[in-house]
Amino acid sequence: MPTLQNVEENEAMKKTITFNLNGESIQFEIEPHLTLLQLLRDKLELTGTKEGCGMGECGTCTVLLDGKMVNSCIFPAMEVDGKSVITIEGLTDAQGNLHPIQKAFIELGAVQCGFCTPGMVLAAKSLLDENPKPTEEEIRHGIAGNLCRCTGYIQIIQAIKAASEQ
Ligand code: FES
Ligand code: FES
Repeated sequence: MPTLQNVEENEAMKKTITFNLNGESIQFEIEPHLTLLQLLRDKLELTGTKEGCGMGECGTCTVLLDGKMVNSCIFPAMEVDGKSVITIEGLTDAQGNLHPIQKAFIELGAVQCGFCTPGMVLAAKSLLDENPKPTEEEIRHGIAGNLCRCTGYIQIIQAIKAASEQ
């Protein structure tokens, strides 16, 4: 249980960070040791980002930081200061239409329980932004850090391929 001294030390170490979240600049005062996943889910109520292992091994908590994938469960929230973060909530357009990758996942049955899907879609986005026409091997490599217990990956790979062809 935190002591009064711990609480006071944490308060004193709080820092205000400014970053771009899904296209909007936001400021937030955060405690040290907060992870990016805790900031997104617990403080900002963006619960599309999922927590699986909590140890940087399953990829369900994947978000994009300056366009690159990071495991938000082990990424210090303080380090997003001055950067750009995209979560799954940021992929729809202004009218709420799903991103082509999301549509392809639905159309090709790449979503079963859906727990891995936000991280998987963002991994696919990161891949296609860098390499718009990946081979199947490159797709497998691009999503290698994201685990799916349901689909066997075949439909996911097909969906990413289909999105790359649009
Ligand atoms: S929850 Fe972050 S990698 Fe598993
Ligand atoms: S769809 Fe269930 S874990 Fe991937």
